[in-house]
Amino acid sequence: MSETMPPSSRAYGRHVFICIHGNCAEPEAGERLHRRFSELNREYGLNKLSNPERVKCSMADCLGICSGGPVVVVYPEGIWYHHMDEAKLERIYQEHILGGQPVEEFIFHRLYPAGQEPGYAPEVRGERGREDARTRGEKEAKKQGGEEQVNETNRTAQPSNPPAFQPSAEAVRTAARRAKKKKGLVIVNTGNGKGKTTAALGVMTRAWGRKMRIGVLQFLKNENARFGEIKAAEQMGSIDWISTGDGWTWTSHDMDETEARARHGWQIAQERIISGNYNLLILDEFTYPLHYGWLDSAAVIEWLKANKPPMLHLIITGRYAPQVLIDYADLVTEMREIKHPLKGQGIRAQAGIEY
Ligand code: FES
Repeated sequence: MSETMPPSSRAYGRHVFICIHGNCAEPEAGERLHRRFSELNREYGLNKLSNPERVKCSMADCLGICSGGPVVVVYPEGIWYHHMDEAKLERIYQEHILGGQPVEEFIFHRLYPAGQEPGYAPEVRGERGREDARTRGEKEAKKQGGEEQVNETNRTAQPSNPPAFQPSAEAVRTAARRAKKKKGLVIVNTGNGKGKTTAALGVMTRAWGRKMRIGVLQFLKNENARFGEIKAAEQMGSIDWISTGDGWTWTSHDMDETEARARHGWQIAQERIISGNYNLLILDEFTYPLHYGWLDSAAVIEWLKANKPPMLHLIITGRYAPQVLIDYADLVTEMREIKHPLKGQGIRAQAGIEY
């Protein structure tokens, strides 16, 4: 390499400054934050020179605020945090650096209006495989007759609206592992395809294997039904299985009775939910009483918000999940029918496979 060759630089995604001047707080406080930040960086591989998402963390002299410190500033977003300690720094690392969402409650100054911060460097440089304005312009020009038609405006155009930062899937998983956050999930299996109850029973089997306390409430299915899953639950033991329906709505001869049973089922569900006796409760076909208006969806969700124990996992199955339920749920899966053995092939439901 020639001695006259200009030096090249390694770009980085973000640059974080922590003041250690001493007017904000003891210099040791800023040094501790810097150490912790460097540890987190190593842990997440954001210290590596080859990583375009690298975050450079510098101890800075006075940043010109000199109160409420230590002050931490994140560029290129130009977001200033105050009164930093290690717990707050961890949160900023998880939510802002890894998650791309600044922690609003610690911010005291922003150089740009919220949502209009300049793009984070790997995004702007396109290393996340995204197409910036220039690439789009050039592609468009090529389509219209060759590269010579790319004009100077296209060559120099900057991304007018840089895409929001999206952490990698691995970073999200690592952040979730570290956060150790747990919650009783509300899971909804809906859609017109088969497999909604089957998927719920798969979770039931898994939970049973983990010695969790399980309850299953079947709305609309006949209380005298002897489906394979009911026989299995009996053999597994310790699964509290309750059927409240009188059969499917389209086989019901008495809709009033069906409605009354569904409402009664909800009463039982409420008792079971607040009982504290379960880790997992499955409300099978529960979307139908909501969809048909036998129960007020909004009132049911309000009740769940107020009464569901935080660690109880609740699975709700059935077609036509109302929007208010989808909004409330943590996980919603839509089963979509692509092919069905009965339609076209005339193969009836078979014991052990479908029931
Ligand atoms: S010492 Fe923190 S901003 Fe001046």
